[in-house]
Amino acid sequence: MTPLPLHDYRNIVLLTGAGVSAASGLGTYRGPGGLWEQADIARIADARNLPGTLPDLWRLYSGRRQKALDAGPNTAHAAIANLQKRWEQDGSGTVTLFTQNVDGLHQRAGSPEVIELHGSAFMTRCTRDDCSLVPFRDESAYEAVPACPECGSPLRPAVVLFGETLAEAALERAGHALQTCDLFIAVGTSGVVWPAARFAAIASHSGARTVLVNLEKMNPPDPSFDEEYLGRAEEILPVLLDCPGV
Ligand code: OAD
Repeated sequence: MTPLPLHDYRNIVLLTGAGVSAASGLGTYRGPGGLWEQADIARIADARNLPGTLPDLWRLYSGRRQKALDAGPNTAHAAIANLQKRWEQDGSGTVTLFTQNVDGLHQRAGSPEVIELHGSAFMTRCTRDDCSLVPFRDESAYEAVPACPECGSPLRPAVVLFGETLAEAALERAGHALQTCDLFIAVGTSGVVWPAARFAAIASHSGARTVLVNLEKMNPPDPSFDEEYLGRAEEILPVLLDCPGV
């Protein structure tokens, strides 16, 4: 395997999924041992079951917060952060990083900007949409559902649940970045959850070279990818992005 000729490209878009954090000890969602195999998870992670599921939702995310805090970024996160910083310094173009992960590991690896499509396990917000409480950074693990200091309504993790739409700003950013990129790299994602599942198709339609780095082939295959590197992201990315020392 040889590094990608990155200087041939001006605008690079990266999309990461749970596989990028696998080497950090955080489980993926699908597949054997994945989060979605846990009993009752489909009910808990569905916004249509709120507010009754809030105690379970907090139990789930308090646990996920703790696991992510105990974990550390791996060489895949580091290679991406390194690329972003190099591009920033050279002024060679843009590197826009989108993640479906909520674990904060890209930021801890030093990524200067991360667009968190599914929110963050470390942000808390009020369940009342018209409440004045600004979503805040929160590493606490809660035994009981916490109450909003502004209006007394229950608080919730600021993550996107099934049945909810992604933040408008993130979607706009994705639309622009994908239509103007000339290299698109997806890493560690099964490619089944929308809208991120469509990113490769949009980038390909815009004329970008499209690359998949994943442990296994997508199922069903996504014909939008020009090439695939099958294996561990933590081994492939340092070579592909030419950051062997990370
Ligand atoms: P998935 O669990 O669906 O897919 C993870 C992918 O990573 C799989 O294809 C694995 O083969 C691959 N993988 C595992 N270890 C890897 C490694 N070391 N290197 C490279 N690839 C590896 O996770 P996502 O695609 O991220 O959304 O899931 C997307 C969304 O589905 C999540 O953000 C979550 C979930 O429902 C919400 O909760 C809203």
